[in-house]
This record gives sequence, C-alpha cells and structure tokens, in this order.
Amino acid sequence: MADEHAEIFKNYVGGQWLNSNSENTYEITSPANKDAVLGSFQISGVDDVSQAVDAAHSALASWADTPAPARAHILYKALEIMGRRSEELAETITIEEGKPISDARGEVRRAMNIIEYSAGEGRRMFGYTTPSELPNTMAYTVRRPLGVVALITPWNFPIAIPAWKLAPALICGNTVVFKPASATPLSAVKLVEIFEEAGLPPGVLNLITGPGSSVGNSLVENPKVSGISFTGSTEIGTGIYSAGAKLLKKVQCEMGGKNAVILLSDADLDKALSGIVQGAFGSTGQRCTATSRAIVEEGIYSEFLDQLIDRTAQLKIGDGLDPDVDVSPLSSQYQLDKVMEYIGIGTEEGANLAYGGHVLSDGDYSKGYYIEPTVFTDVTPDMRIAKEEIFGPVLTVFKATDLEDAVRISNDVQFGLSSSVYTRDLPQAFKYVNTVEAGMVHINAPTLGGEVHLPFGGLKASGVGQREQGVEAFNFFSEVITVYIDYADEAKAPANFI
Ligand code: UN1
Repeated sequence: MADEHAEIFKNYVGGQWLNSNSENTYEITSPANKDAVLGSFQISGVDDVSQAVDAAHSALASWADTPAPARAHILYKALEIMGRRSEELAETITIEEGKPISDARGEVRRAMNIIEYSAGEGRRMFGYTTPSELPNTMAYTVRRPLGVVALITPWNFPIAIPAWKLAPALICGNTVVFKPASATPLSAVKLVEIFEEAGLPPGVLNLITGPGSSVGNSLVENPKVSGISFTGSTEIGTGIYSAGAKLLKKVQCEMGGKNAVILLSDADLDKALSGIVQGAFGSTGQRCTATSRAIVEEGIYSEFLDQLIDRTAQLKIGDGLDPDVDVSPLSSQYQLDKVMEYIGIGTEEGANLAYGGHVLSDGDYSKGYYIEPTVFTDVTPDMRIAKEEIFGPVLTVFKATDLEDAVRISNDVQFGLSSSVYTRDLPQAFKYVNTVEAGMVHINAPTLGGEVHLPFGGLKASGVGQREQGVEAFNFFSEVITVYIDYADEAKAPANFI
C-alpha cells in the first residue's frame, strides 16, 4: 500500500537520526485499518549494525564512568517526558499494535514504573562488604556494567518491554543497541526520542530497525556486544541463546507460554470467570502471560462453561481506539492466519468448538485482522491446541478430577511461564504453589502481567538466563567484581587462601 506521503523514520546511531546504508525502507500499516500507512522505516543490514555497535562501544567508557545517581537524573527526566507524552504513546501503541486503548495506557504506565524503579537504583547499586579470612584485609564487591548490550524486543508490548530492558541496562552503565520488532518500529522511535530529549549522551542508546534475520543475527554475533536481552518466540530465543553461549555472552531470553488457570469447585466462580475471560481475551490473547488453558474441576465444569460462553458472547469486538472495545484486532495477517490454522487443527483433533472460531470481515471489520474470541471444550492434553502457543484469543478448556489431576495437566506442556488457581482452600492453594511448574504463580488472580519491582520470567521453554525486572534485572545487566585490599603496613606471611 504505497503512500507517497508516509513519513520516513530513521535509525538512531551515535546521537544522529540516519538512513540505513541500503537506503531501503518498508512501510507499516495499522492492524485495525490495513489502508492506514503509519510510516516508512529503515531496512537495516549488517553494516548498520556494526556502525551502531561501534557507536555504543565508543560511548561506553564515559557512560560507565558517569556516577549512577547522575545516570538516574536522565532516567527521571525521561520519566517526566513520558508522562507528558503518555496519551500520545498509548494511542501509538493501539494504532500500531492493535491492543485496546485501556491496555495501551496500562502499558505506558508500566513502562513509567520501570523507569522510576530503575532510576531509584542509581542511589543503591549495592555491592557488599564481608570480613576477610586474612588479617588487615578488606573484601567487598562492586558492580560494573556488562558493556554494550543488545535489546531485541517483540511487537506485543512495543513500549513496556523495551523500557523494562532499557532502564535497568542504562542505570547499570551499559550502552545499548535496540532492535525492535519489525512490526512496531514507530513506538520504538518515540521511546528513543524521549531518551534523546532527556539528555542521554550520543551513542549510549542506538536504534536499528529492520528484519530480525539480518539485524538480530549480526547483533548477537558482533564481538563488541557483551550481553543480549531477548523477548520473543521459543524458537528464535533458543537460537539466540545457543549462538550467544558459544561466544560466551551473557544472554537472557523471555519466551513462550501456555498459561493455565486451575479452577477448583470451592472457588468464587464470579471472580474466576472475570479473571479467565480477561486473561484469555484481553489484549486479544497476544501476550505471553495470557490464559490459554482453563483446567476445571468436574463438580463445577458445566456451570463454568455456561457462564463462560455467556460472558464471552458479551465481549465487544472492534478497533482498539474505541474505549468500549474488549477484543481488538490481531496484530497482522500473519498472526490471523496462524490463529485460524490452530482453530482448524483443534477442530480436526476432535475438540469441541464451543464458541467463536471465525474471522470477522463484514463492514469495518474488513479493514482489520479480526477473529471472534474462541472457546474449545473437551480438550485433552495430547492435542496440539493443548500444548502449543497459539498467541491469540483462543481458550482451551479441560476437565480435571481434582487439584492433583489439574496440576498434572497444567505441567504437561513444554512451557512454564505464568499460572493461576482459583480456590478458597488454603492448603490446596499452597499445594498448588509448591507443585505447579511456572515462574509466576497467582492465587485468585489472572495469569496476566507482573509488577516491575518483582522478577518476571518462566521455567522450562518459557525462559532461560536471568529473570527480568526486580533486582534480577540489575543482576543481569551488571558484572559483580570481588575486591581484596591488603592494608597492612608491612609484608604479611604469604596469603593462605583456601
Ligand atoms: C504481560 O503479559 O504483562 O512478550 C507482559 C510477552 C511477555 C511480556 C508480557 N514477555 O508477552
């Protein structure tokens, strides 16, 4: 959909907005309106990556030497600018990614929370002192930045995920090359503009847009890149992790999920239904913490199903800019095709398509990538729709005999990101916490989200490397150096380390 008037956005390298060396660009359109071109973005290649890494490398020594509280001042300034531009950012997320505007506002808030939290770390950045086993010796630890870090981020949280990698990376003194998803470069440009205006020195943050295949790979392989923080699919994350490991880089990968809610018969059904519907269909199911499985104790199964279908039928589907919309479009034709393929697979596998399952294409729906919220019942753990990440508004429902059976079903997947149980029974709740295989566990709350000062991440194929957010983020983005000082004023007997 060529639009001669589409604005051309550039890469940001060494403090300058630059065309890529190829001077080729690509356009992006809105998921709610395929005809609306949002801009043209640089198709970067290997040369652009090495230029950006070189810029980050040149800026490293002076940024690493800048006192952490001074680095924090720039983050506080970015926080203030983001507050001023928050509504514009939320609208950009909705127009570019498709999610409902209330979710987009929540996403901007979350980005601001992580910047605030990370800025506070500028006055902590703790190491520790400890008694030495030797006389007249002091021993302590201190943190140093990793160096140049590459941040590779997905399209589904185009502001919050970059922010939750960027803010801790910067406060720890690293310089950054940021490679956003090729589907959401506009949000990325705005985020970088904010940090530019906040006063980040040239080269500390660099932005390169373009396809993951060339840009992502050459970032991982560049010898001047010391750390890589990736969020995206398990398939790509596994490739990045192994490539990074071979080169002895520090890597963290936040990957897929197949999150389950377990609903026990004694639960507050109303509360559970709200949590499950929000978890499954909020953000059109396009978040790695979305609820994609409901595992329901048999005593409450049919009552739950009736009410679930009723509530699902009430959801309003439409353009995310409409504040009354609950379920907005999928982010792209590719995602729509993938979700429809899984709906076909579920039907062929013998699951019962209890609600939805169709593409919506009448009237205004024809302009976007809409699918009805979809519920499959009578799902068994061996089916592909029970095991694989669909990443769309599709909920699979299972029947379980009791908690133990439910946890067995819940754990019978390769993923282990987030999970939830609804029950009023404290011993059952604790049994669940102690046996469910997930990095984030909720009691009587949806599988969604997380608070920025607590670790975020999963077990098994959902994540590898250090957790994101919370203190873990600062641990990932720094190296701990151990220092021994002999302050005796005369030579001691030879040190007797064990
Ligand atoms: C959230 O669901 O609140 O890519 C955040 C993702 C996750 C982040 C999700 N890494 O969806």
